[in-house]
Amino acid sequence: MNPRKIKDNIYWMGYIDWDARLFDELIPLPDGTSYNAYLIAGSEKTVLIDTVEPQFFSELEAQLKDVAKLDYLVSLHAEQDHSGSIPRVLAKYPNAKLVTTPKAKGILLDILDISADAIITVADGETLSLGDKTLEFIYTPWVHWPETMVAYLQEDKILFSCDFFGSHIATTYLFGSDEARVYEAAKRYYAEVMMPFGNTIKKHLQKLAPYAIDIIAPSHGPLHKRPSFIIDAHTDWVAGALKNVVILPYVSMHNSTKTMVDHLAAMLSDRGVRVELFNLSVTDIGKLAIALVDAGTIVIGTPTVLAGPHPAAAYCAFLANALRPRTKYLSIIGSYGWGGKTVETLAGTIPNLKVEIIEPILIKGFPTEQDLQSLESLAQTIAEKHKEQGFI
Ligand code: FEO
Repeated sequence: MNPRKIKDNIYWMGYIDWDARLFDELIPLPDGTSYNAYLIAGSEKTVLIDTVEPQFFSELEAQLKDVAKLDYLVSLHAEQDHSGSIPRVLAKYPNAKLVTTPKAKGILLDILDISADAIITVADGETLSLGDKTLEFIYTPWVHWPETMVAYLQEDKILFSCDFFGSHIATTYLFGSDEARVYEAAKRYYAEVMMPFGNTIKKHLQKLAPYAIDIIAPSHGPLHKRPSFIIDAHTDWVAGALKNVVILPYVSMHNSTKTMVDHLAAMLSDRGVRVELFNLSVTDIGKLAIALVDAGTIVIGTPTVLAGPHPAAAYCAFLANALRPRTKYLSIIGSYGWGGKTVETLAGTIPNLKVEIIEPILIKGFPTEQDLQSLESLAQTIAEKHKEQGFI
């Protein structure tokens, strides 16, 4: 892929990774991803913002073939998908200075083979003149790492946002013209790495609000030429009303738990509560994470295996605890054969969730008529709580 012009003297560079299917060996990437770098040629200084995964450096190197002199290499975020090629860029341009936050400096020195002498650190709000263009650095720690910043190109009103506002999509479209597609991918990305820091993201959104932004250029996925679309989406995810939705991640071995899940789903639906089922044996956990962003209630369905929850249900609870959704209510339903500590074990894995636990329903064997009535009562309780909370 050749460099692509965004505006005069401002180019996308990087690597479109069509084959990527898993990020951090955890996060499914059904649409691949990209590692975006950006070249800005000012009248006096030239800067490259971020790099690419080191195994794709040759692509970036080819894109830089006509760049004789690089004055600055900016590292917005030290994670290796953006920083991994920094040593090779600095080797190619030994006089370039690496510009980053003091926190990122320490991390970069820990994880990369670079010299501290090459690094200059910038303060929050500091600017870097490129001659006719000015880069302003804005600290945004805990987008999901503690060292992160974004950069605002004042004259062109472009925000280089690194992971913030990004989406895992491999596409040759420079701008994300299909907003529905970008919305889902960006929500997946937010859910999987940023949701635990939702309150901090909210403050970053407030900090960026005064900036006039024409283009957002993230480090994954297409650029945004209608910034309000992606900013409003993030604002909704961090602070919007929760949805009148119950998500039902479940696993069932002999159909007893599945029968309970189906009955609860039907009873909730009858009461106007939307339901999303996720069979944990086969589900894309990214879809589950997306649903966690704004669901009012989680009900985990699990059989009892070896005296505890099914490991797939335990993994789901562990993941939800790590992602810290804003969900208000949680319950557990399931079936056991002769005993166990399923509820106690699952409840012990979710200390981070600020949820009200609604009385779990654990039954012996296949659900009886009485058990189904208990599930109907659970559905009624959830519907009433959602109504009281004004979930939409
Ligand atoms: Fe895209 Fe946090 O790295």
